[in-house]
Amino acid sequence: MARPVVLCTRKFPPAVEARLARDYDARLDVDDRVIDGSELLKLAEGCDALMIASSTKLTAQAIGALPKSVKIAASFAVGYEHVDVAAAKKRGLIVTNTPEVLTDATAEIAMLCILGAARRAWEAEHMVRTGNWKGWATTQLLGVGLNGKRLGIYGMGRIGQGVAKRARGFDMTIHYCNRTRLSPDLELGATYHARIDDMLPHCDVLSINAPASPETHHFLNAERIARMPDGAIVVNTARGTLVDDTALISALRSGKVRAAGLDVFENEPNLNKEYLTVENAFLLPHIGSATVETRDAMGFRCLDNLDAYFAGREPPHRVA
Ligand code: GLV
Repeated sequence: MARPVVLCTRKFPPAVEARLARDYDARLDVDDRVIDGSELLKLAEGCDALMIASSTKLTAQAIGALPKSVKIAASFAVGYEHVDVAAAKKRGLIVTNTPEVLTDATAEIAMLCILGAARRAWEAEHMVRTGNWKGWATTQLLGVGLNGKRLGIYGMGRIGQGVAKRARGFDMTIHYCNRTRLSPDLELGATYHARIDDMLPHCDVLSINAPASPETHHFLNAERIARMPDGAIVVNTARGTLVDDTALISALRSGKVRAAGLDVFENEPNLNKEYLTVENAFLLPHIGSATVETRDAMGFRCLDNLDAYFAGREPPHRVA
């Protein structure tokens, strides 16, 4: 029997592509071009499945125009705001994601962002690399410690809980805001706030770990920043659209927000250029899940979903 044809819209890690090529008629994206829009529709002709990343936008229009042969799209990400889930359901296109396997890697990057912001990592490294370090000094590059500080986590899913677990190791006190309250065995003494406005005054550090959605769009705006303690730290490892960049940049300039650690941005990679001019922003290029282990696991999770579908079973990580 002919093997199912899978169109890859990005390059995937070598171990993932090896398994793809072993088990499928894989149309690999060897040059790692972002395949999207009209090119996606053209290349999808005759394909049974897509393996995509968040750079391929499955809008209602794209889903409606996909060749009928395409029955499933395995997305290499946990967030799936790049897919119009309602349109996929209507068209009968199965869509899967990759939960769980990137929890630890992303929680680690959140800690890197917290530490990078609190301890002025970018300014410090820049000083060394530019030859401007003239020697140790008692007041040089003073940051703030984490011990005893309050960490407010907006979005207490798996990644939020992973951040809480690590932050407890730094002796931080945990607050969280989530649609539903966690059971005591998961909450582990953290303080629950049903409303974000109630949590913000308790955030010496705010970690954003909620998914992108119309409800969370620009939730961190000027009014909400005003509710935070003076000199708070803001960290975002979720999605850039949750933050109103103009408001955060203005708060970084005024010192209302002491520092920010950001791994994600609205309109990546074309982030608001003003971020590049504020020294108290520690900026990373969306590397939350970028470890060898995690990226392999994400690819294998996509393939587990495709394997299940083509074996006539329910894909385990179905979102549409
Ligand atoms: C990465 O950002 C993901 O959603 O998997």
